[in-house]
Amino acid sequence: DYKNEPKDRSKLLRINSLMPFQGEPPAPVLLETYLTPNEIFYTCNHGPVGVLVDPFMYELDISGLLPKPTTFYQDAIHAMPKSRVPVTLMCAANRRTDMHQKKKLLEVPWGNAALGTAIWGGVRLADLLKMQGIPYRTLETDEGGRHVEFISVDYMKDAPDEPYKSSIPLIHATTPRADVLLAYEMNYEEITRDHGYPFRVIIPGVIGARSVKWLKEIRISKDECQGFYMQKYFKHYPPHLSLDPPWVTKVDWYSRRPLMEFPVQSSICIPQDGLMIPKGATVTIRGYAIAGGGRAIDRVDVSVDGGRSWEDAERRQGSFPVPRPPCPCCGTVPPKVEIFDPFEADGKAACLKDPQLLRWTWVFWELVAKVNPPTEIIVKAVDSAGNVQPQDMDHVWNFRGVNNTCWHRVKVKLKM
Ligand code: MTE
Repeated sequence: DYKNEPKDRSKLLRINSLMPFQGEPPAPVLLETYLTPNEIFYTCNHGPVGVLVDPFMYELDISGLLPKPTTFYQDAIHAMPKSRVPVTLMCAANRRTDMHQKKKLLEVPWGNAALGTAIWGGVRLADLLKMQGIPYRTLETDEGGRHVEFISVDYMKDAPDEPYKSSIPLIHATTPRADVLLAYEMNYEEITRDHGYPFRVIIPGVIGARSVKWLKEIRISKDECQGFYMQKYFKHYPPHLSLDPPWVTKVDWYSRRPLMEFPVQSSICIPQDGLMIPKGATVTIRGYAIAGGGRAIDRVDVSVDGGRSWEDAERRQGSFPVPRPPCPCCGTVPPKVEIFDPFEADGKAACLKDPQLLRWTWVFWELVAKVNPPTEIIVKAVDSAGNVQPQDMDHVWNFRGVNNTCWHRVKVKLKM
């Protein structure tokens, strides 16, 4: 039931579904800050917000096929070395509304703001598992574990018999560079209930659905997680499978793999669809681009004439205000500075010019151009592996409405 939902949700969030709560900010607001303020960070819940008992009683179980199964209290996790990693979380449902317009879907519609960036703070999962006797970069434990399952406490109407859960391969979880976190901090603040308090997983470069909130158990298992959202929901079924009856019986659920790394994506946030301007007006076009799996954005192409010609947009990544500790002698709190050092917590120096530092976060792009309406402004990005976005939705449309990464188009109309 929904009687324990947070009461302080931002009015800025546009509600796509109230119960369960799914909301996103207006897309132009996303571009105001490189780090998304916690209050307006998109929220995607599939059931009521998970309620774990009193935080002092909270216990996280690490169970299954490992040398040292353990139960941790919250304090013990907070006392472990903390890492801070900037990560853009993106829901596979981002830009789903456009898919609705193509062909009917049963799923909740989503605009192009189902993503956000935060500096997540917590314990690296690779370190936590190492403490439990699983060395870094392990493919299989001596006990036969090959996957790490994340199990929550919330139940959904789509799958009432099981809590929300997901898994990643053990080799992914035990690779320190993959930066998988057991997080309790979001932009230097305690994670809010909507975003997974007291603990959630953050799996950088992977669709948001795998970053389980309200975490209760980490289980080392032989097989991949068999949960509904792994095996039947967040998969990319082919465009020829539609909702025409009897669609459910036509789907071989296991014919596809669970979605993991997200594909290259870009979108226009400013202007929004339907802008009216006179002929030849100068327009500042802005948006975001992001690649999955830690790949970089290599190029952002923008067209202001419906795809006849293209220009390279200017790109910007990083540089955001970081709070500094108060002066030890007088207690004065210094102003936030526009630098960023995610390895600060580990006591290691980081080079700000190192492109690897921001491998999990979005790129903001901008192009100032003369536009002649009526026309379409289009964006498409290319990542460092040469992956491109598909031109038409026909190739990626699917009845779950996930991973819509086709070229993003915005119509501009003539103002007489
Ligand atoms: N974890 C639990 N326990 N329950 C959920 O419904 N939703 C998932 C994921 N983790 C979900 C969950 C989905 S689909 C996404 S996109 C992200 O959380 C969203 O995280 P956010 O709401 O903090 O932005």
